[in-house]
Amino acid sequence: MVSSASMQWIFDQNQKRYLDFFAGIVTVSVGHCHPRLVKVLHDQAQTLWHTTAIYVHPQIVSYAQKLVSKFPDPLKVVYFVNSGAEAIDMALLLARLHTGNIDILALRNGYSGRSFGAMGTSAVPKWNFNTPTRHGIIQVGMQVDPYRGHFGGSNCRDSLSQVINRPCNCQSGYCEASDKYVQEVQETINYMTSGNVAGFINEGILGVGGVVQFPKHFVRQTYDLIRNHGGVCIADEVQTAFGRLGSHYWAFESHTVVPDIVVMAKGIGNGIPLAALVTTPEIARNLTKALYFNTYGGNPISTAVGEEVLNIIDDEGMQEKSKTLGEKLIKGLKTIQHEFEIIGDVRGKGLMIGVELVENKQTKQPLNQDKFLKIFEDLKDMGLLVGKGGAYGNVFRLKPPMCIEENDVDFALEVFRFVVKENSKM
Ligand SMILES: Cc1ncc(COP(=O)(O)O)c(C=O)c1O
Repeated sequence: MVSSASMQWIFDQNQKRYLDFFAGIVTVSVGHCHPRLVKVLHDQAQTLWHTTAIYVHPQIVSYAQKLVSKFPDPLKVVYFVNSGAEAIDMALLLARLHTGNIDILALRNGYSGRSFGAMGTSAVPKWNFNTPTRHGIIQVGMQVDPYRGHFGGSNCRDSLSQVINRPCNCQSGYCEASDKYVQEVQETINYMTSGNVAGFINEGILGVGGVVQFPKHFVRQTYDLIRNHGGVCIADEVQTAFGRLGSHYWAFESHTVVPDIVVMAKGIGNGIPLAALVTTPEIARNLTKALYFNTYGGNPISTAVGEEVLNIIDDEGMQEKSKTLGEKLIKGLKTIQHEFEIIGDVRGKGLMIGVELVENKQTKQPLNQDKFLKIFEDLKDMGLLVGKGGAYGNVFRLKPPMCIEENDVDFALEVFRFVVKENSKM
């Protein structure tokens, strides 16, 4: 049971301290109870809480301007909601209104939230209720995954070469795995749609799906394909945004694309209920076709916090920090991987890292759940909180608040190595 928290630390009911390497599911972006956010929250609470979206207030305008300044043209219109799933639903609506088409393509092992639309675009084992959610939503048949998927070795993924020099066998500027997966998207369109699609949605790196990175050119090539079939491209940046990946502020930049619609949540508010959709003026204009409304979206308290989150990320150099500390963490984990048979894969970018546990590196058989959960508990008992995920529930997700320091990375690596070593003896 958690009783309090401060920056990268969480305290339980006995005041035992834990290093938080999951950040409330990638939500506490700049630190628990960051003093600057506590002040902004307090000041705003004394000024104005709620108006409904039928009035404007200065806070929503100043935040909207600041947020869209982080986007390239023509992504300059923002709409605020309260959760990622709400923003996803709105993105699906806009894609359909704008194109006049119905079918949305989504990726196997992607996760979008738990509203009906978001359940429809999600496809992770064990997350499916026995209820219809996929009207007009089609999952690409094949899991795009350089580690477990059918095509491409793990060298082909988009970013590891940045940290660890692993040359890919493909010719320069060409990625065989990407081509094959894009062909799969094409086949899905051919077999499952009229040839006209409303859109395509993807996370920059699959989060709940287990920090899965795509082959190098997959997203860019898929965007071209979708647009050729009349669709718009929706980037789900709920986990990957605001500098967490280190190399870029937004994950879509790392794929060298500009989406038509971007969805943000979680880290945008550091834990305050806040989410947003950013799109082009042309696409946004579709909302004038009927009334659209959200009671709490854009409320003064959430937008005040959201604006200060952006300031803190800039002032405290958090993107750069995510890059350097993320590289150190990935390198450290790679070293541990070479020592132990049960660490099948280490992947990710910046402070969004996945460690996949297996019985055997050759077969890649997922580590037995009891053994996996024992390691999870041991990490916790030694003061390190991490997340779990992946299609087989065998991936540790390391996504700390971006305020961590170098010695926190050292601590996490030491604990991780010790616990894996102890559990490898059995
Ligand atoms: C990538 C992604 N998109 C959307 C969502 C949904 O966000 P929310 O839980 O705020 O509805 C999540 C939540 O985990 C997510 O990870």
